[in-house]
Amino acid sequence: MSAPLSADAQKQAAGEAAAQLVQPTMTVGLGSGSTAEAFVRALARRTLAVRAVATSEATATLAASLGFDLLDLNAAGLIDLTVDGADEIGPGLALIKGGGAALLREKLVWEASARRVVIADASKRPGRFGRFPLPIEVVAFGHATTAARIDVTLARLGLAARARLRLRDGQPVRTDGGNLIYDAPCEEIGDPAALAGALKALTGVVEHGLFLDLAERAVIGTDEGVVTFFP
Ligand code: A5P
Repeated sequence: MSAPLSADAQKQAAGEAAAQLVQPTMTVGLGSGSTAEAFVRALARRTLAVRAVATSEATATLAASLGFDLLDLNAAGLIDLTVDGADEIGPGLALIKGGGAALLREKLVWEASARRVVIADASKRPGRFGRFPLPIEVVAFGHATTAARIDVTLARLGLAARARLRLRDGQPVRTDGGNLIYDAPCEEIGDPAALAGALKALTGVVEHGLFLDLAERAVIGTDEGVVTFFP
């Protein structure tokens, strides 16, 4: 039996394993968050000639400091491979993302990518999908009215959650795009596709953190080593 690994060590192991999926000359999407940071640092250590697209300002700053050749998404064309973390990984590799408020740029980069790999520590597969409060990015103008319609939408889908404005140090969190984040503690999302469609249809909602049918594989750090899952 292997010794238990800390969540940090699991993230490092997943990031290292995902960095091995990168080939020279690829254009690579760089995710956001602590697990993606482990991947970015591991990839930098490989010193491959790659081009990179960042999913957040924080990742762009990190990647620039490590010497990556960074491209704007408009200039990147088809990204070969994007590697990113997740807040929760459910059945079929349905994901909840946005704990770091980067979900919009993350989804734009994921959808511009030929291959998408999610990396995580073992805690991100809790067995019940929806435990992590679902991040929903909304425009600031009239955001309370948008939140009220989000709540109605959740109720129609049988979810008792009320969307909560995300605060940090008492102030609303602003995304890289200047929007706000609401978090909906759904507890269990029985029909992620229905929820995704209903949220997307609301005026004022920019994006939500459900990443469905996007990840081609999950590379998970566990106490038994790195394990790969497919949808
Ligand atoms: C950023 O908005 C998120 O989607 C992150 O990918 C997610 O929060 C995972 O972060 P950690 O790797 O830090 O847990």
